[in-house]
Amino acid sequence: MALSKKFLNINGVDRMFICDPEKDTLATALRRLGLTGTKVGCGVGQCGSCSIILDGKVVRSCARKIKNIPEYAKVETIEGIGTATNLHPLQQAFITYGGVQCGFCSPGFIMSALGLLRENVNPTREEVRDWFQKHRNLCRCTGYKPIVDAVMAAAKVMRGEASMKDITFDMEKTKNGIYGTALPRPSALAKVTGLCDYGDDIKYKMPEGTLHLAVVQPKVSSHAKILSIDTAPAEAVPGVYKVVTAKDVQGTNRMLAPIFNPRSLLKGNEFPIIADQKICRYGDVVAVVIADSEEIAREAAKKVIVEIESLPEYMNLLDAVVPDAIPIHGQTPNMFMVGAHIKGEDASEVIDNSFCSVEGSFYSPREAHLSIEGNTMQGYWDEQGNMTIHCKTMAIGWARHELPAGVGIPIEKLRLIENPTGGSFGWACSGLNYALMAVCLMVVKDRPLTLTMSYEEHQHFSGKRAPGYTNGRLACDEAGKLTAMEYDIALDRGAFADEVTAEQYKAMSSMGMQYVIPNIAGIGRCAVTNHTFGTAYRGFGAVQAYTASEAMMDMLAEKMRMDPFEFRYINLPREGQTNNTGHPFRDYVMPNIMDKLRPYYQKALAEAKAASTPEVKRGVGVVTSMFGVAMANMDMAEIHLELNPDDTVTHFNTWEDQGQGGDIGTLTVTHEALKPLGLSVDQIRLHMNDSHLCPDSGVAAASRSHFMTGNAVIDAAEKLIRAMRKDDGTFRTYDEMVAEGIPTKYAGKSSTSFAGPSVNPNTLDGNPFASLMYGAFIAEVAVEVSTGKATCLGMTGVADVGRIGNILSVEGQAYGGLSHGISFALQTQYEDVKKHATMAGAGIPYIKDIPDNINIMFMDDNPRACGPFGSTGASEVFQCSQHMAVINAINNAVGVRIYELPASPEKVKAALEAKAKGQELKPKKYFLGSDFYDQLDYLKANPF
Ligand code: FES
Ligand code: FES
Repeated sequence: MALSKKFLNINGVDRMFICDPEKDTLATALRRLGLTGTKVGCGVGQCGSCSIILDGKVVRSCARKIKNIPEYAKVETIEGIGTATNLHPLQQAFITYGGVQCGFCSPGFIMSALGLLRENVNPTREEVRDWFQKHRNLCRCTGYKPIVDAVMAAAKVMRGEASMKDITFDMEKTKNGIYGTALPRPSALAKVTGLCDYGDDIKYKMPEGTLHLAVVQPKVSSHAKILSIDTAPAEAVPGVYKVVTAKDVQGTNRMLAPIFNPRSLLKGNEFPIIADQKICRYGDVVAVVIADSEEIAREAAKKVIVEIESLPEYMNLLDAVVPDAIPIHGQTPNMFMVGAHIKGEDASEVIDNSFCSVEGSFYSPREAHLSIEGNTMQGYWDEQGNMTIHCKTMAIGWARHELPAGVGIPIEKLRLIENPTGGSFGWACSGLNYALMAVCLMVVKDRPLTLTMSYEEHQHFSGKRAPGYTNGRLACDEAGKLTAMEYDIALDRGAFADEVTAEQYKAMSSMGMQYVIPNIAGIGRCAVTNHTFGTAYRGFGAVQAYTASEAMMDMLAEKMRMDPFEFRYINLPREGQTNNTGHPFRDYVMPNIMDKLRPYYQKALAEAKAASTPEVKRGVGVVTSMFGVAMANMDMAEIHLELNPDDTVTHFNTWEDQGQGGDIGTLTVTHEALKPLGLSVDQIRLHMNDSHLCPDSGVAAASRSHFMTGNAVIDAAEKLIRAMRKDDGTFRTYDEMVAEGIPTKYAGKSSTSFAGPSVNPNTLDGNPFASLMYGAFIAEVAVEVSTGKATCLGMTGVADVGRIGNILSVEGQAYGGLSHGISFALQTQYEDVKKHATMAGAGIPYIKDIPDNINIMFMDDNPRACGPFGSTGASEVFQCSQHMAVINAINNAVGVRIYELPASPEKVKAALEAKAKGQELKPKKYFLGSDFYDQLDYLKANPF
């Protein structure tokens, strides 16, 4: 390695450093210098998180080799433009206007925006968007609109038309409490100043002696027997400490993800931590190299020799369930779990005898989460002898149960801590992401370890949204009232069954859940394939269901020659009617929601008609959405509140913060619950997401955190307040509590036992969720007829999420969720493991792929009696059916239906060409492992 000395003028100071000019990028050099505000997401020039200003120009520093940068070049980074006590207007505006969620992209966006505003201090919104498009700045959390808001606000200050005070949240607005305000999240300040240390930043700040890990992913096959693994060449590399393979794993080497469904033929313990006998998917890891440096570990990883014998690869469910497919796991059939959903009379007969019916087959693809930060973690043994892993987990409690048996450690010795997290949207639920670190820590007990996967390694290793294949039929009477639905949905769960019970349950219970359908016959199936495993993702299960049900609603309206908006409206639940699982709806708010949306729909339709040309046709699509919050009778959360010696209060919980705002959520409910004590915001301290210091508040998923943890906060706050209250109504101080021997720390618990019994697993009869969110949305779309390219021009929606706790967080979930839905409809997928290996390859949306015209209105007339201060969940109602508004809008624009998503230009063009010949391109009915009616009869005859 030939090293050299280099001078750069960084943030106004000439700085000398030693580098490898051939290998080092500007990003790595800056980060080694401690300037870790410059983040590295993709590492290959696609995401802009590493944007800095070089000699006055915005550049992506990961794509600039240090050797090509002139000596004494002027480099500006996030650390140089403002400090925590003297923020740049852009930093302040990002905080105030919701431009920061996970914050991983924020320094890059701020530096990029600074470059723009120096060139043009009075840009239009479109010019801001053009700039971020040109500079490839990606954000996966915010849906971009709040970022543009922030840039416009900062520009005003820079032009002298507004003051910093004008763009700073006014604490006066909190004089009656912070609940329902737009108080920015506590972590935002660290994020906009580049001082928030994410996992890969911590890597640079680990103690001396830290060893680095690199994974060995053969990436030669998705299904193969492992004949041998030769680690000797890798172990011979100087600086390699050890190469860990399955034989070094001290536990069972299996994840423990029990499947709570007696019909499942898999147990949930088939999932190896390190592949031992077989490779079952492209991203399987067969070894982990532990070495003195990341570079050595990566070089050595290339020298591990893996001999395999290829087996047939089943890269999709349809191939995996044909009768002669070989089983992927032992003798267990690839279709391993099937369940029934039955309501009312024989749905098949009702459909056959109904006035009008439609049928179709629909494909909901494998969707990549594409958080800008990939997978990174640290591990060590703490002073109490606990295996301690700092990682991106959004499920501390779950993961602690998934790992111990496989790793060979008692659960009480496994300590999980969430690092500041650059987004995950669900993939960080799976404990597998941290199990590799755990098995290495069993081998290395005297040195800390750190692992940063490349984005491509992470893309192949992590789970994705399971694809869904649905055959469905839907029918109505002469008046357009739904009479019956029939569906057969099969989820491709990839190589292993992870979180499968919940996804099957959510998919089935979401089928037709927004409407009154008297008769339903449904089957939900789950199969293994050789693709990556299915895991949690916002809209879990419901997305696949809505891909079919919201298409069929449009198809039936069209066949009935009814407006799709009004067709939905007449089928909405009214007082006294029953839901798709045979019980009263929890709320009857949907008609109000659609009444509010109707004028926007009609206006959009008129505008689309007026703006359509033969070359570019415009259309409007509509969907409704419902999403269940917390499973009925199956959910629990715990938090602790402690009065401190200075009479402040510390809140302990594991409301993991993936960027959605676990910190501001915790602060908001705590401040409200402790209102009688009159604490200011800064008298509430947060101690979160350390399994050994915080109780288990449950997974930060399923839109449950605010609902479940919030209710637990109320319980703890009542106990603390009761203990502090004196007879005269005033409150004891900490010193008085101690003097009187009164405990100062209280546990608060919540459960969904109030929500009635769980559903009948043989029929789904029951009320599956403790609470629900509701919404209706329209998408405006333009389709270029010659190319088939569809563009979403705008989305408008009305949502009921109960009382809003924090406006910025809820709007953030709304904009973010809608942006995922739009890109899912048109471009995002992970099917081709080679083509979809990167963010751009997998179709992540850049700013011009998402409209600036997003308008969300909230209903506030339905506070939830069962939720904290009237709130319920506030996330997945924005990413469950919205992709179908786009698909329905394409149909409205050009009269073609895309049955198999995404609606790429090629597919739309092919459908248009077929239409011109009087044909319709639609998939044949899927074969999903057995005949629907035979399967249903079997399930009915064999209940458990
Ligand atoms: Fe540099 Fe993505 S563009 S990290
Ligand atoms: Fe932009 Fe998370 S806030 S990626």
